[in-house]
Amino acid sequence: MTTLHTHVDPSSDEFATNRDDMLTKLAEIDAEHAKAVAGGGEKYVTRHRKRGKLLARERIELLLDEDSPFLELSPLAAWGTDFAVGASVVTGIGVVEGVECLIVANDPTVKGGASNPSSLRKGHRAAQIAQENRLPVINLVESGGADLPTQKDIFIPGGRTFRNLTRSSARKVPTIALVFGNSTAGGAYLPGMSDYVVMVAGRAKVFLGGPPLVKMATGEEADDEELGGAEMHARSSGLADYLAADEEDAIRLGRSIIKRLNWRKHGPSPKPDYAEPLFDPEDLLGIVPTDLKVPFDPREVIARIVDGSDFDEFKPLYGSSLVTGWAQLHGYPIGILANARGVLFSEESQKAAQFIQLANQTDTPLLFLHNTTGYMVGKEYERGGIIKHGAMMINAVSNSTVPHLSVLMGASYGAGHYGMCGRAYDPRFLFAWPSAKSAVMGPAQLAGVLSIVARAAAQSRGAEYSEEDDAAMRAMVEGKIEAESLPMFLSGMVYDDGIIDPRDTRTVLGLCLSVVHNTAVKGADGFGVFRM
Ligand code: COA
Repeated sequence: MTTLHTHVDPSSDEFATNRDDMLTKLAEIDAEHAKAVAGGGEKYVTRHRKRGKLLARERIELLLDEDSPFLELSPLAAWGTDFAVGASVVTGIGVVEGVECLIVANDPTVKGGASNPSSLRKGHRAAQIAQENRLPVINLVESGGADLPTQKDIFIPGGRTFRNLTRSSARKVPTIALVFGNSTAGGAYLPGMSDYVVMVAGRAKVFLGGPPLVKMATGEEADDEELGGAEMHARSSGLADYLAADEEDAIRLGRSIIKRLNWRKHGPSPKPDYAEPLFDPEDLLGIVPTDLKVPFDPREVIARIVDGSDFDEFKPLYGSSLVTGWAQLHGYPIGILANARGVLFSEESQKAAQFIQLANQTDTPLLFLHNTTGYMVGKEYERGGIIKHGAMMINAVSNSTVPHLSVLMGASYGAGHYGMCGRAYDPRFLFAWPSAKSAVMGPAQLAGVLSIVARAAAQSRGAEYSEEDDAAMRAMVEGKIEAESLPMFLSGMVYDDGIIDPRDTRTVLGLCLSVVHNTAVKGADGFGVFRM
């Protein structure tokens, strides 16, 4: 057993500064989370309650096993857009009758629960998580369907929502729709494509065309209930499998459906007994420097998230700006790759490629802890083959088939983001700390590159180059790139699965590891050609 030590001094000025900065960022993020929880605001929430209805999050809370956690996903989707923060839908993973399920709940207090382009991104990400991790899906439906003013951005790609449901069913992963209210037009295919459908009497309305549309199309007169009420669907059309007396009854029926699924995880169980880390997770607030150019030792983070702070480092003397090693988290074995001093050199890249292959040999999930400015540039490094070595690492990450989890602690720039299993490399989950930043490169570097290019272009045209304009351009670009690198912006784009409090990292990763073990955990049989 190799127990990590700590050099963090919580009484130091540096620690206090870092902690204050992290707490300020956390408060800003909490304020944005509160907006998502507030849904459509007081007016619409009050109206919803007056109608005797539960809010989306209340429905979820009742559906879940008592006192079990809910891992909410993409809570800040749509941040920075014209749409409400949260994108009018709540998604996440919770435990129902002991089964981890993906839950998708429309928020009818936001534009009638209509889906806008951000809702679609969020919904598709949730569906991807359900698919990759073999999770039953429970849709809590009450939505005005497509957000009509932005239909051009959602109508065509939105079709995938329904395809995802039936493909899940084809893989023997059940899909359940609990219909609380409106589910019209395209939305009718939510229950239409689900394995099990529950409708609330007097509330659920499921029809391809509502009364006005039918009148327009055929001249027929009909009311909501006749066209698509729960009673009609339970007794005549057969679209409803269960008729619920009220919302609570629908939730009870949903739970009893899950209870009968005879659900079994395909992955190995965790070790039942494991030790907690030796060091206080509270310290995680003071470890990341406010200036990301200052490196920090990721072993201090590892010591606060893995079982017993026990970490067997692999190749500690080689490629030391990337830490690799084996540990256990909530009883699950993991391999960890963590950036130590920002830059990835050839040695680090080769070490990573070897380590990823080793994890695949033993079916061990991998955790990537990001704090990298990317691969090293310069004559010496190009001659030394930095491209082919970086490519080796990216090959290994791309073709590895064990589950990957990524946490952006600090910088995640350039191809380093790719090599460390960034979003496009499909980690099963990717979370960011409030201190994270991700972009093609740092804002000052990017503005500097643009300036050099513009200067050279002016020179080749024989034109004057204004230093004043250059300074203004740099400042403008730096500000823009800085804003676009921040976690709230990236969360708004659904480029991560959420921003987490560093103190919750162990809990969140433990939940993720439990979720990924719904599938068999099996390493790759082969990789692409490693360029030597
Ligand atoms: N697209 C854009 N905005 C929508 C919307 C949609 N599909 N559905 C509702 N909204 C807006 C409303 O315009 C209203 O906005 P406002 O408060 O700023 O004026 C707000 O959401 C709330 O709608 P409201 O009708 O007051 O809520 P409700 O709870 O009484 O009824 C619906 C909700 C969904 C039953 C009703 O709004 C409706 O029938 N919407 C259209 C449904 C439809 O045909 N969709 C097409 C699907 S492809």
